Order: sequence, then structure tokens, then C-alpha cells
Amino acid sequence: MIRYIDDLQLTGKRVFIRVDFNVPLEGRRVTDDTRIREALPTIRRALEMGGKVILASHLGRPKGPDPKLSTVLVAEKLAELLPRKPGDKHEVIHADDCVGDNVKKQVNDLKAGQVLLLENLRFHKEEEANDEAFSRELAALADVYVNDAFGTAHRAHASTAGMVPFVKEKAAGFLMRKEIEYLGDKVLRNPQKPFVAILGGSKVSDKIKVIESLLPKVDALLVGGAMAYTFLKAQGIEVGKSRVEEGDKLALAAKLLDTAKRLKTPLVLPIDHIVCADLEGKGPVKETPDQVVPADMMGLDIGPKTRAMFTQRIRDAKTVVWNGPMGLFEVAKFAEGTRSVAAAMSINKDAITVIGGGDSAAAVEQMGYADKMSHVSTGGGASLEFLEGRELPGIKALETK
Ligand code: 3PG
Repeated sequence: MIRYIDDLQLTGKRVFIRVDFNVPLEGRRVTDDTRIREALPTIRRALEMGGKVILASHLGRPKGPDPKLSTVLVAEKLAELLPRKPGDKHEVIHADDCVGDNVKKQVNDLKAGQVLLLENLRFHKEEEANDEAFSRELAALADVYVNDAFGTAHRAHASTAGMVPFVKEKAAGFLMRKEIEYLGDKVLRNPQKPFVAILGGSKVSDKIKVIESLLPKVDALLVGGAMAYTFLKAQGIEVGKSRVEEGDKLALAAKLLDTAKRLKTPLVLPIDHIVCADLEGKGPVKETPDQVVPADMMGLDIGPKTRAMFTQRIRDAKTVVWNGPMGLFEVAKFAEGTRSVAAAMSINKDAITVIGGGDSAAAVEQMGYADKMSHVSTGGGASLEFLEGRELPGIKALETK
């Protein structure tokens, strides 16, 4: 059983919230604040319940203290986003470390309604090592532990797992609850049928476990992106210069096709492609009449017949989950496949539509469809591992008997 933040009594307590503020930065600018915005309901509720809020996150993959990856940049953004009234600011105090005497003092001086954001947890190697002494130091800052960092729930680190047993009370935040509800209950456990999954991206090898986990559950699995070419080649279809994983991955793709056949689950591959000899779309861009990619060309997006076929499947579904773009969507000429999947999902108001994070989340955000989906996961690796059916350490640590 997992308790949620609103099951707890927080008045006057030190509420340590593990958030995933691992946001993209350009210089000193946060270029996508989705993860910060998604954590606001939990932070606001903790404040409204009279808690003294201590926020902790990692940012990037530093190998020690690195000013370019200081959470001070995030503190500024959070101070703008936290008030409910635009234009107002809510002070976010920044600690220049996440453990040590100064931080302890800052925590002890906190008053109900105040927010303290700790410095990047990964400035200490003990965070990723899940070191016990470090875990205990973090735990000493907290009366209550709340985890709202779904994006980091697949890591067994000090702040996501190690410290939890050393804090008296623990709970999940609202973002964590939403992610578990959509990816877990509405997709994996109780999907409304027909249930369609769409997988794309470059490598079959990244998605093997997801394919194996979803095949027995779905009514159809649609495959696009570069990984489709490994499946096509495994069936002996000419794929020209398309990106293919050779060797044992071809055998693996053939095995997955067999599994699909045995389960009588359609594993639907593209029936036409957008091809070009150049990754940036310089030179002629063509539509192929069928599944064959000409010898001197690369398949870089699904073609119009495939778009129509995928759209039809999505239109008829009651649950749709999508992970991985259909083509090289960063280049406008190869973005139509990805856009058409996003559009079809956004139009189907009878379905639960879930974007399984990573590149597809970035694509729907960029193309303006994000707010038309039932749920866009904030996890990349975490949502993939969740869809694989794996137990995530950050979620397991929250379970109570
Ligand atoms: C993510 O962005 O996927 C999470 O914040 C985890 O980051 P990591 O892959 O560096 O552990």
C-alpha cells in the first residue's frame, strides 16, 4: 500500500520532498519547465497543510560540484511558478549544499510556509552510490519524506530509496500518484479495449522488454521509427541505407514477430516510407510506393499510407499508449509521421491517451498536443521501465505493509 501526501498531518513538520527538477538548461536558462510545473500541486499542498518544505533534486550528471549544474537556476524558476497568481513571487531559499551543518541550520530556521531548495544531490557521489551514511544525513533533515520524482523512480539512490527507512513517515506526491494511475492502472492493469500501443525510436534493443511486456496485453502494436527497419529487414525486406541493428538484433526482431504471431496480436509495421539519402533532408525526399526502401536511400519517417493506417487504429482504440517518435521529427520534412500519431491521439476523446515520456513527450509538447492527451509522463527511462512491468525502486520504497 502507498500513502499519499494528503493522508498525512504536516502542520509544523519538516516535509522533505524529492522532486525531479532535472530540467534541460541552455546556459542559465531553463528551456523546459514541465517537470517543475508538474511538481507544483504537491509543493503547494505541503505548504497549505502548514509544512516547512525542503525540496531536493539532482540536475544533470555531474561528477562532483559543478556551478553550471547548480539548482540555484531552478530556485529562480520555481519562485516565479509557485504562486497561484501570475506575476507574484514566492521566496525559494537556496541551500548551497544538501547536507552539512549550514543546511541543518537553514532547515531548523525554516518556518511553516517557507520553501528551501537544496543544492544538486549529485554533487555528492554518495547520492548515486546510495551510501548509508549520506542517506542518514538526508533523513535527519526530515520529519516526513514525500517522493514526487517519478522521473527518477527507476534509480535506487540515497534520496529515492536509501533515506526512506530512516524517516518516520513517507508518502507519494500527486505527480507520482498521477503517473502510477495512468501508466499502471489505466494502461498496464486495466486498459479499456481496444488497447493500442505505438512504439518508435531508433533501437529495437531499447524496447525489447516493453514489447514483450505489452504484446500479451494490447490488441495491436504499431511500430514506427528507425526500429521498424530492423523488423522489416528481419523479414527479408530491402531497407536500403536505413538505420538497422544488425547481428543478433535481427534474430531478436524475428523472435518478437514470432511471439506476436503466436499471441495473434498484430505487430503492425510501416507499409510505406518517407526516404532521403541525407539525414538532414538535403536532396530529394520521396515517398515509397511500398515497404521497400531504395538501395541508396534511408527511411526517415513513415509514409502517408502508414499514417492513414495508424490513424485508423488509433481512432478505433479506447486506450492508446505511445513511446518513441515515428521518424526523425527534429527535421521538419520527417516530422509528419510523429505529428499524425499525436494528432490522431489528441482527437480521440473516447480514449485514455498516454505519452510514455522521453522524445515522444518532447514531440507532443513541441507540436502543441500535450494538453490534449490524458497524460504525458514526466519520466524518460522511468516510464519505459514502468511499462516493462518492472518494479521501480523509488516506488517500492514508498510501500507500507
Ligand atoms: C531523467 O531525466 O530521466 C531522470 O531525471 C533521471 O536522470 P538520470 O538518467 O541522469 O538518472
